[in-house]
Amino acid sequence: MRKNFGAKPFLFPQPVMIIGSYNEKGESNAMNAAWGGIVGMDEIIISLGSHQTTDNIMTNKAFTVSMADVDHVAACDYVGLVSGKDEPRKMEKAGFTTTKSDFVNAPVINELPLTLECEMIKVLDGLILGRIVNVSADESILDQEGTISLEKFAPITYDTVGLKYYRLGDCVGKAFSDGKALK
Ligand SMILES: Cc1cc2nc3c(=O)[nH]c(=O)nc-3n(C[C@H](O)[C@H](O)[C@H](O)COP(=O)(O)O)c2cc1C
Repeated sequence: MRKNFGAKPFLFPQPVMIIGSYNEKGESNAMNAAWGGIVGMDEIIISLGSHQTTDNIMTNKAFTVSMADVDHVAACDYVGLVSGKDEPRKMEKAGFTTTKSDFVNAPVINELPLTLECEMIKVLDGLILGRIVNVSADESILDQEGTISLEKFAPITYDTVGLKYYRLGDCVGKAFSDGKALK
């Protein structure tokens, strides 16, 4: 037996993206966004309502997407609860510091180790389509070969059913490989 839940946004794992942007004064902001994902080798789409971040992206045509991780759960949730429109000390209260991206006019959040640096391509009915022009990663999440390693980096995923955050789990297989056994 299967139970029907109707039309719900239940897709697992859902990303927890922390979007970095600058306002008109060049001040950093960050917000939490779960509704979106990668749509090609170098494109990302995010559904954004009316936020300080949305205004900032329209101004600069650029943004960063860092992944929330286990070490920064409260800070990442906080930037999804409070708007930079209401709290000028939002970044400070989150404990986030930033460095300007070398590639786009948007801030890289120093505390989050993996960041996609993006330029806005266009807005499609509330959806921001961006091009990833660079990915930067803190050395702490690289393995001996210099590759980003999920053994060293612990991103969290958003549980849209229970409204909770979970850490991603263990490696359970190899893509484009394990299925060969069934050919
Ligand atoms: C788990 C979570 C996911 C969220 N996902 C989105 C989203 O995908 N799109 C959106 O517009 N807002 C989303 N929000 C709400 C914004 O993060 C929130 O309104 C934030 O305060 C906006 O900040 P800003 O006005 O400083 O840009 C989410 C919040 C949380 C906690």
